[in-house]
Amino acid sequence: RKGGFPHYMLKEIYEQPQSFYETLRAGVDERVRNLVMEADEITLVACGTSYHTALVFKYLAESLCGIPVRVEMGSEFKYFTPPLHGLVIAVSQSGETADTIAALKMAKARNCPTLAITNMQGSTVTRIADETMLMRAGPEIGVAATKSYTAQLAALMQIVNLRCEGAFDDALSHAHLAIGDVLLQDVHEAVTLCSKAKHVFFVGRGPFYAVALEGALKMKEISYVHAEGYAAGELKHGPFALLTPETPVVAICTPGPTYGVMVSNIKEMKARRAPIIAIGVAGDTELPEIVDIFIPIPDTHLLVQVLTASVVLQLLAYHTACALERDVDKPRNLAKSVTVE
Ligand code: M6R
Repeated sequence: RKGGFPHYMLKEIYEQPQSFYETLRAGVDERVRNLVMEADEITLVACGTSYHTALVFKYLAESLCGIPVRVEMGSEFKYFTPPLHGLVIAVSQSGETADTIAALKMAKARNCPTLAITNMQGSTVTRIADETMLMRAGPEIGVAATKSYTAQLAALMQIVNLRCEGAFDDALSHAHLAIGDVLLQDVHEAVTLCSKAKHVFFVGRGPFYAVALEGALKMKEISYVHAEGYAAGELKHGPFALLTPETPVVAICTPGPTYGVMVSNIKEMKARRAPIIAIGVAGDTELPEIVDIFIPIPDTHLLVQVLTASVVLQLLAYHTACALERDVDKPRNLAKSVTVE
């Protein structure tokens, strides 16, 4: 059933070109399209990995299409419900996460239009929300979310694309090929470093901050190495005190408006003797000179870089967990879906 892979998680990582492509190909039906086009403000409610995809959406939708977006954790939302306007989207792979369901019910009770983005047809969120956008990831057995994460991004990026009048049609239609390319990326040097560490930081800016949060979550949950995701500029407001030669930092640094400031953040971290693992685009000549380990991703559109950088971090967490002989598919204390508040 694992199709020749040692773990479901690796199989599911490798299924991502297909699951991303299928979710994109499913498109957006008329009623969902109307909800999305009419929204003058969007609130997303989600937990865990799904919260991270929601955060990626916030950065992309606000910066690329100018829609105000708020992202709320399901677990907080129910007890500290903010004033609500506009469309509320519940993002949940399983569609059964108790906190996300509770938040969705609150939104309904306040008469907001609601949309569920889920991988499970007929799940609880689909029965509550006005409309559903179904991801086509197929069953995900590993506790760690992998293909459901990129499929959620496929759904959310389609919403960004809709609101930007198809500006990203071309980038999205090639994304599965770039995801396929990074599956072959060698991460063993970075794995050696992380599997010896007690603490690892993950940093990025903008959507890559959300990617860093997800990279740290993957590392924690399956390898049990303590990992923290930070917005790169925040590290100097406290966490710098923890940087040592034994504390690797994984930095996502791709071309764009934050490249220069990321490079100077990396130099500051190097000056505190932290080993740096950088994820940057192939062909970058500056970064490999200043970091300890450079992992290239294809030099593509921002949306695609978000996907490929995320897949590299999944591979890093997976191989680190294997090096430490962890139970990758069933990490201790965790369940696939959290059905209690
Ligand atoms: O099914 P959901 O997307 O609502 O699950 C939310 C979280 O429990 C989930 O994303 C969790 O963080 C991941 N399994 C971690 O890899």
